[in-house]
Amino acid sequence: MQEKQQPDHPGGLSADQIVDLTHRAAKVAQHAYAPYSSFRVGAALLLTTGEIVTGCNVENASYRLTTCAEQSAIAAAVAQFGPAIKLRAIAVANLNATASQPCGACRQNLLEFSTPDTWIFYPAAEGAIAAASISHLLPAAFLLHHKDPS
Ligand code: THU
Repeated sequence: MQEKQQPDHPGGLSADQIVDLTHRAAKVAQHAYAPYSSFRVGAALLLTTGEIVTGCNVENASYRLTTCAEQSAIAAAVAQFGPAIKLRAIAVANLNATASQPCGACRQNLLEFSTPDTWIFYPAAEGAIAAASISHLLPAAFLLHHKDPS
């Protein structure tokens, strides 16, 4: 499993695409509403159709109601393009110049719209971009298998 950006470009993205997606995530992080943590996060989703949708974290005085950047971006993407969206890649950035990985809840949210080839790029130490597939970030994930109880 790859933990750091690899020369063969995870997810089939070029280095330029990864940097562009990361820049978009950092840009939308400027809109974050984070008065409680002062941790401003942005997420940029590259859909399998080529569209890019962004979102930022939106905190709340009742802390647990906070929406993460990844979740905001997913909600925006579904609202814009409908429930059939699929993620090709996700870039996450923060304005605090620190390494950060998507939280557990976000991983489950991203999985919902992922394919086996969905990759996630996120801030590693010293300004590097880490890359990992969704199955690496969330192994043995919960999936709902409907069964007729009757
Ligand atoms: N946050 C995100 O937006 N995404 C994550 O994956 C991790 C955490 C936000 C939530 C909260 O507003 C702030 O970062 C500090 O936890």
